[in-house]
Amino acid sequence: MGVLDGKLVAEKIQQEIGLEIERLRNERRVVPGLVVIMVGDDPASSSYVNSKNKLAEKMGILSRLVKLPGNAAEAEVIQSIAAANSDPLIHAILVQMPLPRHIDPWGVIDHIAPEKDVDAFHPFNQGLILQNRGRIFPCTPLGVMRILDHYGIDPAGMNAAVVGRSFLVGKPMAVMLSNRNATVTLCHSRTAGLTGILRESGLVVAAVGKPGFITAEMVKPGAVLIDVGINHINKEADFDKHCPRSQYEAFQKKGSVITGDIHYQAFAKAVHYTPVPGGVGPLTVTMLMHNTVELCKRQLRDA
Ligand SMILES: NC(=O)c1ccc[n+]([C@@H]2O[C@H](COP(=O)([O-])OP(=O)(O)OC[C@H]3O[C@@H](n4cnc5c(N)ncnc54)[C@H](OP(=O)(O)O)[C@@H]3O)[C@@H](O)[C@H]2O)c1
Repeated sequence: MGVLDGKLVAEKIQQEIGLEIERLRNERRVVPGLVVIMVGDDPASSSYVNSKNKLAEKMGILSRLVKLPGNAAEAEVIQSIAAANSDPLIHAILVQMPLPRHIDPWGVIDHIAPEKDVDAFHPFNQGLILQNRGRIFPCTPLGVMRILDHYGIDPAGMNAAVVGRSFLVGKPMAVMLSNRNATVTLCHSRTAGLTGILRESGLVVAAVGKPGFITAEMVKPGAVLIDVGINHINKEADFDKHCPRSQYEAFQKKGSVITGDIHYQAFAKAVHYTPVPGGVGPLTVTMLMHNTVELCKRQLRDA
């Protein structure tokens, strides 16, 4: 059983991106620019936004944060997007999800210029992915693909199950694996016979948002297990149910730990697996930087 070390893969990609940023600065006198638009002050979103800004600054990417109050109207969010669409210093636009309930995410996403759509959520970019001619890919599934590639795991010909069908993770993940010639089953809360499907799957990507949801009995021996889930555990009883004792010291110290959607005991049956933390997470924010640079280069090419 081998750990797929997301931190290591992320560091390697960050080095490559660093060289690209240096080249853009030296040869084109351009600094890639990212704007993050955040509505409200949800603590989880704030912490994601902080880590995005921190990494962008560290890497030499111009990073701007537009913070709107939680009761901002949809029109205000669209206005901020329009300003970023026409700002020549900004190459990449991210609207932090989830948005407050009164705002329709599609109504907002549709306004992002597709060439600045760093999350690849715009229907144009998702359509291109569906047609297997994607230019830009959502950060989390792209991070998963980069982990598989780094470790030489070729999805071609594998039976792959993706559990979760959000437009952020599960759906594009399923399409991207299919584009790489895996045979994909996209599972969700209404899927009948999930265990049977998983027991036939050599590759499982879990993006559900429920701690330890996929248990050891549900997985095929020798499978590759990719755990996208991030679940915060802050109760002792939940810790006992979902986390290995090796995390107990950290749990006691911080009062909480994060755990994935795949129960840790299932990893013993896997040939390779991504841990939580330290698996897919570090890739997501790294691929955001990658996409920012990629969009910047494309805009220079198309100018
Ligand atoms: N590692 C990272 O960088 C990263 C990035 C993004 C998200 N995440 C984490 O990944 C997880 C999923 O995120 P998301 O945004 O995709 O979540 P989401 O929008 O809440 O989607 C969850 C999906 O899980 C499915 N599901 C729920 N219960 C199920 C069940 N009993 N059986 C099978 N499927 C079930 C849902 O099915 P229905 O469609 O039928 O409701 C839905 O498609 C969360 O823990 C999130 O924090 C991590």
